[in-house]
Amino acid sequence: MKSTFKVLILFISLFMLNACSDKKEKKVHGSLPNGNTSDVVISASIPTQITSTGKPVTLESLQHDFDELSWQTFIALNWPANTDGTPKKNVTFGENESGLTVWQSWKSSREIFLPDGKKPNAWGEEENTPIVCDSISAADLKNGIITLTQVGKTPNVLDESGEPFQTGPLIDQNGNYTRYEILTNEVMFDYIVKNKLYSYQGQETFGEDADFPFSDPDTGKEGAIMVKAAWIKMEGKYDARNFHTAYALVYDNPHEQAGVKSSCKLVKVGLVGFHIAHKTKGDPQWIWSTFEHVANAPTQGEALNRSFYNYHDPKSTYPVNEPPARPWNPANVGTTPTKVERVIPIDADAKALNTKYQVALEKMFKGSVWANYELISTQWPTDATSVSDQTGKPAPTFLANATLETYIQGKVPQTSSNCIACHNNASMTNGMFSDFTYLLQRAEKEKELEKKK
Ligand code: HEC
Repeated sequence: MKSTFKVLILFISLFMLNACSDKKEKKVHGSLPNGNTSDVVISASIPTQITSTGKPVTLESLQHDFDELSWQTFIALNWPANTDGTPKKNVTFGENESGLTVWQSWKSSREIFLPDGKKPNAWGEEENTPIVCDSISAADLKNGIITLTQVGKTPNVLDESGEPFQTGPLIDQNGNYTRYEILTNEVMFDYIVKNKLYSYQGQETFGEDADFPFSDPDTGKEGAIMVKAAWIKMEGKYDARNFHTAYALVYDNPHEQAGVKSSCKLVKVGLVGFHIAHKTKGDPQWIWSTFEHVANAPTQGEALNRSFYNYHDPKSTYPVNEPPARPWNPANVGTTPTKVERVIPIDADAKALNTKYQVALEKMFKGSVWANYELISTQWPTDATSVSDQTGKPAPTFLANATLETYIQGKVPQTSSNCIACHNNASMTNGMFSDFTYLLQRAEKEKELEKKK
């Protein structure tokens, strides 16, 4: 039993009380016209707890409250940011679909876990890009491609092309591999650096379970947040105007699969999937939110309602939710597109909430790309202090993002995607509990110490 949990038992009653009287500041940037969207707050502040709306409070009402929190978090993290990651003031959310967002200014996994367990650069100081990317970024920065959108910031490097545990890559309608990146906020990064968890030896010396700081509604202090994003190349069948876009250095990483050759291209990509995990005082198992682009895939059992899907061609005879045949190599172009279907439907309440937010976002800024995103659901611990179940009895039991857990959707116990249950298995390089993140497993051995042994 982790010590956090013991402390949290003390807070549980407080949490239940606090949930009813939300004291967080609610800033409304811009005004919303009348209608059923008038209670939508579009703000850059990240909620640290739910606002309880249920009378009486039920599992369903709490699910609704967590889903509201997810939307609020999604908006706050996608808020236009200055290069230092602080949210820009006096902007209309949705105005600049390719500008830098708060989370895009965070540290990525490849900047934190360096070769030979080296100490990462300080927050705000960028890491060098992979050598093969250097010439490209310099040339393009010079002719202004990037400076147009991301002043002073080297584009993020997308260096992963597969889903968890080699379940497979996801191929888009142009035959390209979907690319992924993982980033953490400053609080999470600071904890890793302070405790030297960026290296194998550091974790060994640390010698206990990881216990990241949580967001505290009482002090307003932000805790650990980590995100994982899925992107597709904006070309061919995709219309960039429908997506949140960015310039990224798309890197084929030789360490990912046998046979992959190091290569790097500057590419305009569009956001198709987005995971957020946020550790809060009330939810030490973290709150797991997942969003997708609305056109990703149709839902099994529901009628096709679009003429085009990002990952589904009705005419394709390719088997549904099947990864491509091996060998996998992100450099391969023209791979048969994956035919994706959503297995678990989005529930009616989340659908209504999505409509409410999409309408509000569209009202705030006509043509806002953010109105093209939807919440799939939020997984949260219904019994955070449970002694018998370290995962805190998550609800819903199963949750998957069609672009991030494509091949493990569904409701098969022990098999289908359950965010908290799977992440509960994550450990550090020494086998100790990593506090629900797979990031710490990436720590490498420091070379000097290695030699001395
Ligand atoms: C079967 C196990 C599994 C399931 C289910 C799963 N993940 Fe993960 N997740 C991983 C692994 C492994 C990584 C590390 C990177 C990788 O291999 O893709 C990861 C990475 C992440 C990250 C980046 C931080 C980290 O720990 O590396 C976030 C955030 C995340 N997942 C959120 C979610 C959410 C939200 C869900 C549920 C909708 C979910 N995951 C379901 C295995 C899983």
